[in-house]
Amino acid sequence: MTNTTFLVPPCVGVSPAAFLEFVQPDLVRVEARLQEDVGREDRLVALVARHLLLAGGKRLRPAMVALAARAVEPDCDGARIAVIGAVVEFVHMATLVHDDVVDDTATRRGKPTANAVFGNGAAVLSGDYILARAMRLLAIDGDLRLFRTVAEITAEMSEGEVMEIAATGRADLPIAEYTEIVRKKTAAFVEGCCRCGAVVAHADESTEEALGRYGYSLGMAFQIADDLLDYTGDPEVTGKPRGTDLRDGRATLPFLLAMPAATESERAQLLSALGNDRLDEAGFHATFAILEEHGAFDRTRAEAREYVDQANQALSQLPASLSADCLTMLTEFVVQRDR
Ligand code: IPE
Ligand code: IPE
Ligand code: MG
Ligand code: MG
Repeated sequence: MTNTTFLVPPCVGVSPAAFLEFVQPDLVRVEARLQEDVGREDRLVALVARHLLLAGGKRLRPAMVALAARAVEPDCDGARIAVIGAVVEFVHMATLVHDDVVDDTATRRGKPTANAVFGNGAAVLSGDYILARAMRLLAIDGDLRLFRTVAEITAEMSEGEVMEIAATGRADLPIAEYTEIVRKKTAAFVEGCCRCGAVVAHADESTEEALGRYGYSLGMAFQIADDLLDYTGDPEVTGKPRGTDLRDGRATLPFLLAMPAATESERAQLLSALGNDRLDEAGFHATFAILEEHGAFDRTRAEAREYVDQANQALSQLPASLSADCLTMLTEFVVQRDR
């Protein structure tokens, strides 16, 4: 495999070594498919696509497709898993390329972003190219249920990203609206990855439902953890700068939880930090200290933990298997992750 950073903490059910041994063969096949399909040529579009692909990434979404499929049918067709795994990673990559233009981000996966290297125009159009590579693979696979699922989750994700833009600068964003944005931009996609895995493995309706609920809850926890890491993460480890959401005017859960509890002067500091793209390190630290003092990070962690409990509940409806144990491990990974 290339320098993917798919990492697993020590946790429940199955050892990290057993987890990797189980999931690795599918991920290696997905990787081969991605590399084959991204294009080797030196055309600019292929260069941009390869830039992000070779920068690594956790490959969480292809892993979800594979594990969901193998939770239903351990001997499921590996070639199809590889194609659909590549599809979801391509859609994810296209989103990241577009997201980094929208969020004006300079680093991703520890490397300069496509927009930083090639400019916004080339990045946006190459994002479309990557999305089209995904569609081509779906057409090759030929299952219209998969095509429809991927189309729906891509539409939801775009809608969520646009909703987030519309909510920019709103320090008083209702938490219900924040939750809806997270559902659309991230959870629906992870849910869709699990459903695709279920479809590839010819799951019955109730099994697909259980895997879908698992993916939705895991996706919610994953994005909430991501929003927490935007404040608390180590850029060396996450590969992304800290404080991007705050400087971009995105009031995420830690910020929204602190707002009502803040004193008048603290609130003034929070309001002056939100959307301030010239906020320096000292300003970021002052904001961070207020959020910390009001327990906003702990409460955000607790919220992510609740979704993880829901994910585990959904899993308990599946028959016991090594795949199901690996899915349980992923739930722990999501709340404990540092990248
Ligand atoms: C980043 O996703 C975008 C979010 C939905 C938070 P990942 O954290 O899975 O990114 P990579 O693929 O590992 O780079
Ligand atoms: C990434 O969202 C794109 C989607 C989830 C659709 P964010 O902007 O919240 O994530 P990062 O922090 O840039 O990866
Ligand atoms: Mg972003
Ligand atoms: Mg964004």
